[in-house]
Amino acid sequence: MDGSGTPQAAPVLILLGPPGAGKGTQARLLEERFGLVQLSTGDLLRAAVAAGTDAGNQAKDVMDAGGLVGDDIVVAILRDRMAEPDCAKGVILDGFPRTTGQAGALDRLLTDNGQAVNAAISLIVDDVKMVVRISGRFTCGACGEGYHEAFKPPKQADTCDVCGARDMQRRADDTPKTVMSRLDAYHAETAPLLRYYGDKGVLKEVDAMGDINAIARDIAKIADHATT
Ligand code: AP5
Repeated sequence: MDGSGTPQAAPVLILLGPPGAGKGTQARLLEERFGLVQLSTGDLLRAAVAAGTDAGNQAKDVMDAGGLVGDDIVVAILRDRMAEPDCAKGVILDGFPRTTGQAGALDRLLTDNGQAVNAAISLIVDDVKMVVRISGRFTCGACGEGYHEAFKPPKQADTCDVCGARDMQRRADDTPKTVMSRLDAYHAETAPLLRYYGDKGVLKEVDAMGDINAIARDIAKIADHATT
C-alpha cells in the first residue's frame, strides 16, 4: 500500500549492461534481498534451445554467433513468463530489453498490467575486462549459481556452495570471439536504451568494476529507493 491506502503495483527493475557486466550475478542477489523474481531472457532462450521448441530452434544459431535474437521471439517468451503467478510479486529483468523495439513492447505490456519501470540500472564496466570475466565463468547446472575461476571460485573445487551438486557447466557462447560479437551487439542495439530510460527519468548508473558485494550494496540502495 502507498500512503493513500492504494495498493502499489509490483515493482519492475531492469539491469542493463554488456556481457559479463554482472547482470546475472547482481539479479540473483537482488532476488534474495527483495523477494523479486529474476527474469533472464538469456536463460529463457537457453531453456528453449535445450527443449528444442520452435523459438529455441530459431534462436540457436543467432545466440551461438553472439547476435541478438529477433524481438518477436524474445518478447513472446518474456510475455509468457511474466504471466506466471510468481511474477506478481515483482521482477528483475536481466538482459531485457535489449533493443528500442523490446523497450516499447515492455512499456505496453506493463501499462496493460498497471505497472511501470521503477528503475533501469546500468552497470558501467570496462569492455576489455569483460572478456576475462566471461572466459573464467562457470555455472552450477543443478541450481544455476554462477562462479568465476578467479573472482568467485566455489569453496570446494567443482562443488556448488549453494546446493552441493558437482555439475559445473560452461556456456557455448563464452568464447572470446563470440564475446566480441556480443559486445558489438550491446553497443549498437542496447546502449541507445540508456537515453531511452534517461529521458523517462528512471536511469541509474552504477560503477560495476569493483567488488561484487560492494556493487550489490550500491544497487540495493537504488532498488530500496525505487520500490518504496
Ligand atoms: P545473456 O545470457 O543475457 O548473456 P549476456 O548479456 O551476454 O550477459 P552474460 O550472462 O554473459 O553476463 P552477465 O552480465 O549476466 O554477467 P555475470 O553475472 O554472469 O544472453 C545470451 C544471448 O542470448 C545473447 O547473446 C543473445 O543472443 C540472446 N539474448 C538474450 N536476451 C536477449 C534479448 N533480450 N534480445 C535478443 N537476444 C537476446 O558475470 C560474468 C562473470 O563475471 C561471472 O563468472 C561472475 O562470477 C563474474 N563477475 C560478476 N561480477 C563481477 C565483479 N564485480 N568482479 C569480478 N567478477 C565478477
